[in-house]
Amino acid sequence: MQDLKGLVVENIPLTKEIYKLQISVPEEILPEIIPGSFAMLKIEAKGVFLRRPFSFADVDLKTGLVTFYIKLVGKGTGALREIHPGQEISMLLPLGRGFTVMPGKSLLVAGGIGIAPLNFLAREIIKKGGEISIIYGVKNEAMFIPEITKNFKNIEVYSEIPGPGKKGLVLDGLKAKDINSYDQIYLCGPNVMLQAAKPYLQNFSGLVEVSLESYMACGFGACLGCVVKVFSNNEIEYKKVCKDGPVFNFKEVVL
Ligand SMILES: Cc1cc2nc3c(=O)[nH]c(=O)nc-3n(C[C@H](O)[C@H](O)[C@H](O)COP(=O)(O)OP(=O)(O)OC[C@H]3O[C@@H](n4cnc5c(N)ncnc54)[C@H](O)[C@@H]3O)c2cc1C
Ligand code: FES
Repeated sequence: MQDLKGLVVENIPLTKEIYKLQISVPEEILPEIIPGSFAMLKIEAKGVFLRRPFSFADVDLKTGLVTFYIKLVGKGTGALREIHPGQEISMLLPLGRGFTVMPGKSLLVAGGIGIAPLNFLAREIIKKGGEISIIYGVKNEAMFIPEITKNFKNIEVYSEIPGPGKKGLVLDGLKAKDINSYDQIYLCGPNVMLQAAKPYLQNFSGLVEVSLESYMACGFGACLGCVVKVFSNNEIEYKKVCKDGPVFNFKEVVL
């Protein structure tokens, strides 16, 4: 983990609720970053005391460009939206355990802003010669990032209300797939999506990984503020999302 200072190069709205923040870090000091790991961004604003966690949506080690897709939620994400190109920002990175990037055929299942880490994962799988299919579910137009569909060929979009893609839920996309034709499956999205997907994936014999969210104070294992339950070796264990995750074996997490 390093505390790096970067310069904002771009901070633009992608939709009414989501913006893209791109930060440049001198490439010689940017460490290798695994998809699914995250950064704690320091936000200089009144009343925002803790850093906020964001997954890497893309990292280019050659240029030192780090990209985040950020959903407007509260004070921190609101203040971050206001920072301008040229301003400095402090980031603790890389944090957490990321996805296992595998060759072969991968199915990526994203709900809402859960597409952020899966965008980076998809790029890394393709770089390693793997094939990907993406199911991308959104609530409405305001949650849909159009540039994602330009990045990848094999992507199906579902929208809860008539909007981009087909009307329906991520689960509709999952049910329509022959999941056994994939070697591994990766998920990131709201708990309600994960709960609905769980019964469909429990008997899948390959690797299934999920990136979880939780409230985080420190981001590196010191405060116990981010604990989740995992059922492993026939017993319940408590794991820290920031240190043992955010990526876990989907079959083991208790949702
Ligand atoms: C590992 C990890 C990766 C993440 N990656 C991304 C990402 O790539 N893009 C992105 O937009 N967001 C991501 N998040 C969520 C993001 O960190 C929160 O939305 C952000 O911290 C909210 O800060 P805020 O000050 O704007 O809101 P706050 O003022 O802190 O909270 C406003 C409201 O949002 C809710 N809230 C706050 N944090 C969370 C959370 N973690 N989960 C659910 N509800 C929350 C609270 O209930 C509160 O009502 C990630 C979270 C984690 C743990
Ligand atoms: S956020 Fe502090 S232990 Fe995980």
